[in-house]
Amino acid sequence: MAQKITVPGIKAMKAGGEKITMLTAYDTPFARILDEAGVDILLVGDSVGSVVVGYPNTLPVTIEEMIYHTRAVAKGVTRALVVIDMPFMSYQISIEDAKRNAGRMIKESGAEAVKLEGGVKMKGVIKAITDIDIPVMGHIGLTPQSIHQMGGHKVQGKAEEQKRKIMEDALAVEEAGAFSVVMECIPTELATEITDRLSIPTIGIGAGIHCDGQVLVIHDVLGLMGNFRPKFVKSYIDLRAVISQAVENYMDEVRKGKFPTEEHSFHL
Ligand code: KIV
Repeated sequence: MAQKITVPGIKAMKAGGEKITMLTAYDTPFARILDEAGVDILLVGDSVGSVVVGYPNTLPVTIEEMIYHTRAVAKGVTRALVVIDMPFMSYQISIEDAKRNAGRMIKESGAEAVKLEGGVKMKGVIKAITDIDIPVMGHIGLTPQSIHQMGGHKVQGKAEEQKRKIMEDALAVEEAGAFSVVMECIPTELATEITDRLSIPTIGIGAGIHCDGQVLVIHDVLGLMGNFRPKFVKSYIDLRAVISQAVENYMDEVRKGKFPTEEHSFHL
């Protein structure tokens, strides 16, 4: 059996110059496929809200929904590190609340680490959660839970002042004890500078080639989301077309009385 990926193992990958692969997963069958393919980290992202449940953004996602999907993912995994996103308002109210929710999410979901958004402002929260030995993955740059404050999904850190703030966020996340940090939609040059400066791994999404690892939403990788494709996404297959074709074939055979055949039938 392949060796289990752990939090220290992820940190060691940066030290060893080995690129980290991370994908989202939201259910058992996908988790099993991705785990067997050898992905290092499976993130049960709060993107489940927009990708799977049909919410307009990640804000409505609840702790219960995150636990439900993460339980399903954990059942399909033997090797990858499983990380659960802390949803909006599960860590912003108080440090005590954040610790209680992080603890509950680890206890009830089968995840091995939590991810939360924010840098300098979340330093105390990250420190408090890591102090109770729950590994934390940070998330800086474009933080989708701040979509209204940011005015949409926009590249962050282009202006000098913003660039300085994002560097400060990265340093704060590391100082607070996070074991890695996701950097979303920031210029390649800034992501490279942060990656060189931090000792913990950086995992990019729309942050260029020089991050220690990369993450994408699995539905984007598989071409399941239709025509809208952000610049940073690469779809490796048009699974939407493959699924449509399969469904059309099924309907055609049912309508023409070609399915089921003897092969799919029972007899007395
Ligand atoms: O929720 C999510 O899927 C994420 C990744 C895109 C990093 O946070």
